[in-house]
Amino acid sequence: MSSLSDLLMVRLCLLLWLLVKSVAAPDPAVVTMTVDDAACDIGGDDWRFDCFPQGTPAQTECEARGCCWRPPLKPRPPSPSGLTVPECYFPLDYQSYRTQAVSSSRGHGQVKATLTKGSPYPRDVRNIQADFFAHSTNVLNIQIRDADRERWEVPLLHNRRHCGRGQGSAWPGHAHSGHEMGAGNVLTFGDFLVTLSKPGQPFWFQVARTTGEILIESTGGFIYSDQLLQLSTTLASSLLYGLGERRGGLAVSANWTRVALWNRDHHPKENTNLYGTHPFYIARDARGWHGVLFLSSNALDVIVQPAPALTWRTIGGIFDIYLFSGPEIWAVTRQYTEVVGRPFMPPYWALGFHLCWQRYGTANNTRATMDRLRKFGIPQDVQWNDIDYAKGARVFTTDTEKFGNQVGLAGEIHSRGMHYIIMVDCGISNNATPGTYQPYDLGRQMEIFIKDLDGQPLVGRVWPGTTVWPDFTNGQSGRYWRKIAGDFHKKVAFDGAWVDMNEISSFADGSVHGCDEKNPLDVPPYIPGIADRELYKHSICHHGRHAASSHYNVHSLYGLLEANATYHAMLSIRGKRTLVISRSSFVGQGQVSGHWSGDNSGTWHDMHMSIPAMLQMNLFGVPFTGSDICGFFLNATEELCTRWHQLGAFYVFSRNHNSDTCRPQDPGQFGPASAASTRKALLTRYTLLPYLYTLLFYSHVYGDPVARPLFFQYPDDSRTQDIDRQFMWGPALLFSPILEPKQTSVLAYFPRDVWFDFYSGRRVPRSGQVVRLPAQYDVINVHVRGGSVVPMQSPGLTTTVSRELPFWLLVALDDDGEAKGQLYVDDGESLDTYERGLYNMVKFETQKNTLWSKPEFIGYHGNMNLSNVTVFGLQDMPTDVQVNGESVIYQFYDTVLYIPQVKVSLAKPFNVTWGGSE
Ligand SMILES: *[C@@H]1O[C@H](CO)[C@@H](O)[C@H](O)[C@H]1NC(C)=O
Ligand SMILES: *[C@@H]1O[C@H](CO)[C@@H](O)[C@H](O)[C@H]1NC(C)=O
Ligand SMILES: *[C@@H]1O[C@H](CO)[C@@H](O)[C@H](O)[C@H]1NC(C)=O
Ligand SMILES: *[C@@H]1O[C@H](CO)[C@@H](O)[C@H](O)[C@H]1NC(C)=O
Ligand SMILES: *[C@@H]1O[C@H](CO)[C@@H](O)[C@H](O)[C@H]1NC(C)=O
Ligand SMILES: *[C@@H]1O[C@H](CO)[C@@H](O)[C@H](O)[C@H]1NC(C)=O
Ligand SMILES: *[C@@H]1O[C@H](CO)[C@@H](O)[C@H](O)[C@H]1NC(C)=O
Repeated sequence: MSSLSDLLMVRLCLLLWLLVKSVAAPDPAVVTMTVDDAACDIGGDDWRFDCFPQGTPAQTECEARGCCWRPPLKPRPPSPSGLTVPECYFPLDYQSYRTQAVSSSRGHGQVKATLTKGSPYPRDVRNIQADFFAHSTNVLNIQIRDADRERWEVPLLHNRRHCGRGQGSAWPGHAHSGHEMGAGNVLTFGDFLVTLSKPGQPFWFQVARTTGEILIESTGGFIYSDQLLQLSTTLASSLLYGLGERRGGLAVSANWTRVALWNRDHHPKENTNLYGTHPFYIARDARGWHGVLFLSSNALDVIVQPAPALTWRTIGGIFDIYLFSGPEIWAVTRQYTEVVGRPFMPPYWALGFHLCWQRYGTANNTRATMDRLRKFGIPQDVQWNDIDYAKGARVFTTDTEKFGNQVGLAGEIHSRGMHYIIMVDCGISNNATPGTYQPYDLGRQMEIFIKDLDGQPLVGRVWPGTTVWPDFTNGQSGRYWRKIAGDFHKKVAFDGAWVDMNEISSFADGSVHGCDEKNPLDVPPYIPGIADRELYKHSICHHGRHAASSHYNVHSLYGLLEANATYHAMLSIRGKRTLVISRSSFVGQGQVSGHWSGDNSGTWHDMHMSIPAMLQMNLFGVPFTGSDICGFFLNATEELCTRWHQLGAFYVFSRNHNSDTCRPQDPGQFGPASAASTRKALLTRYTLLPYLYTLLFYSHVYGDPVARPLFFQYPDDSRTQDIDRQFMWGPALLFSPILEPKQTSVLAYFPRDVWFDFYSGRRVPRSGQVVRLPAQYDVINVHVRGGSVVPMQSPGLTTTVSRELPFWLLVALDDDGEAKGQLYVDDGESLDTYERGLYNMVKFETQKNTLWSKPEFIGYHGNMNLSNVTVFGLQDMPTDVQVNGESVIYQFYDTVLYIPQVKVSLAKPFNVTWGGSE
C-alpha cells in the first residue's frame, strides 16, 4: 500500500492535469477519439480504471472509446474474483461532462454539467445535476440526476428528508453553512469539506473531513448513460469492510476485487452475488473511520483496486451516495442505521433455539422431534415447518391429509410455551381450480400480481408448479397480504414467518415463456459480473411490470418489500411482536426482518464462513442473523454437527435447518454425547439471554452491531483486522469455536485487555497475542472481558420458563477493579415497549470493591429478582461480603467470588461490597 502522502501527490497531479487540460477543452459538439500519449501515462497499473468492462477488447475497439490500450506494466494472474489489470483504461484527461454552473445555499451545493463526450453505451444523459446535501452534520448525501427527466430512484429509505433541501427546511444553525463558496469552490457541511469543479472544468468533486483528510474524490472516467452508470473514487486507505451480501473474509481485498451485487437464489459461494444487496462499506482513513453507501437497487459491480480506489458501476437509476463521517467505527454504524433504518425489536422468544427440517412431512414427525429434544433436556423455543405443511406447496393452505393436524400442532407448540414459524413463499400458485385458492383469486380480483407486457400476470414456476407473484410496490399489497395471512392465521396460529425464494427465485428462467432477448431490460448493453452473466436466470423477466417500475429496477428490493408487508401483517394479526426471517435482503432490511445465510452445506468450510456472514449483516444493521446449523445441504457428520451446535448456540439467530434430501440432523439425532454437548452450549446461551436481549435493544435504538468482529471492538489493533474465526457479543463476550475436525484445542487471539474464561473465571495469562485453548468435545471457549458486568438468568428449556427464573450478575473486573454494564428488560412481546416506557433499564457500576445498581428507568413490573452475583478477578479473599450493608454468605475459589443469596430486586437500587468489614 502506498503511503498517504504518495497518494496525495498522485491525486494532486491528476487534478492539476485535469485543470490544465480543461482550459483547452474541446467544443462539446466535437467528439474527439484520439488519445494523447501523455494522458495514458497514469502512474502505474494500480490507477487504471477499466474502460471496457464487458470483456477483452481489441486495441481498435478500445481506442474507439477514446481510451488507452496498453498491456499492463506488470502482468499478473487474475484475482480470485477474476479481475486483471485492465488493458483498456481511461486516460487522465477523459472528460465526459463539463461543469456549467455551480451554486450553493444553506446545507446544499449544486453543480450542473453537460455531456462533452458520448460514452460507448446507448442513451447518454445530456445534462446532469449533482446535488450535495447536508443530511445532518455527520451525513452527506450526493445525488447526481438527469437534469431534464426523472429516472428510477430507490424509494424506501424512511429518513429521506434532507436538512438543506426544499423550502422552509431547517438545518440546525451551523457556523459554516454553504454560503461562502470562496476560492476553489469549497463548501463546509458539518464534518465535511466538499470541493466542487468550477464552470468550464471537467465535472469533478472531492469530499474531505473538515480536518483535511480526503475521504473520496471522483476520478477515472465518469459515465452516465441510461443503462450504465459509473463513478470511480479514490479511497482513503485499502482497509475496508462491508460490500455484501458476500461470502468470504471480512475485509474486502483492494487487490483487484470485484463484488457483484444482485439478489439471486444462489447457494453461498465465494466470488459470486448472493441473496442480498448492501452496497455499503466502512473504511479507515487517516483520522478514523468513515462509511459510504451507494444506494442502488439495480445490478451493480463494485471494483476495488490497489491505488486504492473504488468503482461503482450500476445499470440503472441515479447516483445516490451517502457519506458517514464516523470518526469512531461505532459512530459509522450508528450514522448508517440512522439513515437506512434501525433494526426491529425481536420478541424475547426469538432469542431461543429454533429447529426446522424440510422433510418432517407430518405434524406427528414434527412433534416427535420436539419430544426428542425434550428427552435430552435441550432447550428449544421455536419449532418451524417448511413448505411441506402446505397442500401442493401452496402457501396459506394446510395439507390435512398428508401432513395431518397442523392446527393441533400449533396449539401444542403453544401449550409447551413455545412458538411456531412457517414458511411463506411469495410465489402464488395460479393453477388451482378457480374458487378454491383465495390467495390467487383475491390477488386477481385486486390486480395485485406483477404483470407481463400484455397486462396479464407474469407466470413462472416454483414449488407449487406455475406461479405468479404479488407486486409489493402496489399500494394495495399490504392489505392483500394481511387478508390472506390473517385468514390462514385464524386456522393455524403461527407466530412468525419465514419469507423465502424472494430474490425473486423462479425455476423457469424469466417466465414459462422465457424473456424477450431484444428488450434492453431483459438483456441490457452491459451486465455486471453476476452469476451466469444473465439478469433473469433463475428469476423472472426484468421487463415485468410493478406499480412502481419495471422488475429491472425493483428486483433487488423485492425481498425487503415482501418482508415489510409480512412484518406489518403479522403485527396487526397478532397484536404482538413477531419474527420474520428473509432470505433476500436489501439496505434497511433490519427494520423488518432478520436473515439467514441461505442454502449452505454441511461442511467445515461452510461452518467457518457462517461467522463472517453473520458479522457482515450486523455491520449492515441486520443483526438478527445466523446460518443453518449443521448445514442445509449434505449430511453432516456427528462431529461437525456437534461442533456446529456449539458455534450456532451463539449466532444471534440460532436455528438448525436441513434439506429434504438429507438425513435428520436435529440435536437429538447423534446420541447422548452429542446431545449433552449441545445441551450444554444452548444452556449457556439461555443463561446469557438477558445480555443478548440488552444488546438487541441497543441495536434497535442505536443500530449497534450485536455480534461483532474483533476489529469493531479493537479497531486500533491491526491484528484483529482479518479475524473471522472468533467473534464477540457486544463489548463483553468473546467466542472462539472449533472450526476444524479432530481438534481438542483452538488458537485464539486475545486483544490487549483483561480476559477471563467464562466458565471458570480463570484469567487468560497473556493478551495481545494468540493463545492455545483446550476445547474438548463438549466445549466452546467463551471469554468475558474484564471491565464488564454481564446480566444473566437461570436457564430453562424455553424462554417462557427462563424469564421467570432469577437473574444473575457476572462482574468481570479490569485491572483497576472496575466494571460496567446494563440490563434492558420488558415483557418480551408487547409492541413499542421502549417507545411507550414499558421497560426497565438498569445500569451497573463497580468501583473500589463495590457493585452499585442504578435503575435508570422502571416501567415494567415483571420478574426482576436477582439471586446471585459472581465476581471475577479479585486478588484476595474478602473477609466480609455485604448486600445493602448486611453481611451475606459467600464462597471464594482462587480469584472468583460467588455470592449465592443476594435476594434483591433489580428494580431497586442496591449495592454489594466485598473486602474488609469496614
Ligand atoms: C495481489 O495479487 C497478486 C496476484 O494474485 C499477487 O501476486 C500479489 O502478491 C497480491 N498483492 C497483495 C498486496 O496481496
Ligand atoms: C398422528 O398421531 C395421532 C395420535 O398418535 C394419530 O391418531 C394420527 O393418525 C397420526 N397421524 C398421522 C398422519 O400419522
Ligand atoms: C411497509 O408496510 C407498511 C404497512 O403495510 C406500509 O405502510 C409501508 O409503506 C411499507 N413500506 C414500504 C417501503 O413498502
Ligand atoms: C444423506 O443421507 C441420506 C440418508 O442416509 C441418503 O439417502 C443421502 O443420499 C445422503 N446424501 C448425501 C449427499 O450423501
Ligand atoms: C421474587 O422474589 C420475591 C421475594 O423473594 C418473591 O415473592 C417472588 O415470588 C419472586 N418472583 C419470581 C418471579 O421468582
Ligand atoms: C449500600 O447500601 C446501604 C443500604 O442502602 C447503604 O447504607 C450504604 O451506604 C451503601 N454503600 C455504598 C458503598 O454505597
Ligand atoms: C446462581 O443461582 C442459581 C439459582 O438460584 C443457582 O442454580 C446457581 O448455581 C447459582 N450460581 C452460582 C455460580 O452461584
